[in-house]
Amino acid sequence: MSFLQLEKLRKVWPGGAVAVNGVELAVARGEFVVLLGPSGCGKTTTLRMVAGLELPSGGTIRLDGRDITRLPASERDIGMVFQFYALYPHLTVAENIAFPLECAGVPRAERLALARALAERLELTALLERRPRALSGGDQQRVALARAMARKPAVWLMDEPLGTLDSARRAEMCDFLRAQQLEHGVATVYVTHDQDEAMRLADRIVVMSAGEILQVGPPHEVYDEPAGLFVARFVGSPGMNLLEARSTGRALELAGARAALHFAREVAPGNVVLGLRPEYVRLAASGVLTGRVALDAFMGSHRYVHVETPAGRVVALASIDAPSAQGEQVGLEFDLRGVRLFDPASGSRIA
Ligand SMILES: Nc1ncnc2c1ncn2[C@@H]1O[C@H](COP(=O)(O)OP(=O)(O)O)[C@@H](O)[C@H]1O
Ligand SMILES: [Mg+2]
Repeated sequence: MSFLQLEKLRKVWPGGAVAVNGVELAVARGEFVVLLGPSGCGKTTTLRMVAGLELPSGGTIRLDGRDITRLPASERDIGMVFQFYALYPHLTVAENIAFPLECAGVPRAERLALARALAERLELTALLERRPRALSGGDQQRVALARAMARKPAVWLMDEPLGTLDSARRAEMCDFLRAQQLEHGVATVYVTHDQDEAMRLADRIVVMSAGEILQVGPPHEVYDEPAGLFVARFVGSPGMNLLEARSTGRALELAGARAALHFAREVAPGNVVLGLRPEYVRLAASGVLTGRVALDAFMGSHRYVHVETPAGRVVALASIDAPSAQGEQVGLEFDLRGVRLFDPASGSRIA
């Protein structure tokens, strides 16, 4: 049996709105699971039910085999970091970080030493004697994280804990979080709407939409083999190119294409959506499609070239060697190994 298990978990608000609709999830001991989805899809509500801050309308939560669905939050051995941190204003940074250890009865010298060690790793040493009001928002958030990680509970729950940090700090904190989690082996459920963060942290990503789980898998699988159009669009930045096409069996016709795409295997005839990540699309003198470059976006180590074609907008990954193609007419070659097909009616993947 898994360590943390959510069975048919549901939350219906008074008035009838369904926030979480039958979530099934098993988190293994020591696993880092990320709930990923757009704002309002039910991530926070799911996490708050696991923490014991919200009573489920249905379903069961088990921790290490024990039913904790109706157990008070204080008896769950769960550590939580919220989107909106709250530090104790009358305590110093050092005392704030050490506070959960004080509650756990760790002697003063020992808990302050641990707080100092954590602060060191987060470059907070210079701030240890300050009070929260003398810190920037980002520093307050980092102190809140250090405080949450001082204690090693059975489960860590984190709700967009890096929200207010700038991108450099955010990347640094991601690595810190993951290192701490690996070191201590604490099962973690982490909530974010940011797919970059999810990829970076997760053993497994759980993609949610409208209160339901759409796909669960390791980052590379969710990225490479999206279960449907929603995941294909939401994961990856930019998301997968999606073009309306028509299958005639062994071939696929795209609007305005110079030739049909030919497959080794049969695809049921009818309308399909062709998905292709930018790394499978190459700029060429000619190609399956041609079009005008609407945007040539420099990303530092690579470029994303957005091309307006008769079949729709297509983004190609390009190297930084070539000069900008902004405004030019270009051809696009497709690497068919990257093709993923979807049913336009249901949005699900066609095998
Ligand atoms: N206390 C509440 N009462 C009523 N509706 C709520 C409450 N909290 C959240 N909601 C609604 O429940 C849905 C899910 O919210 P939430 O879990 O916060 O989503 P997420 O964290 O994914 O952004 C949203 O439609 C939100 O407006
Ligand atoms: Mg939320």
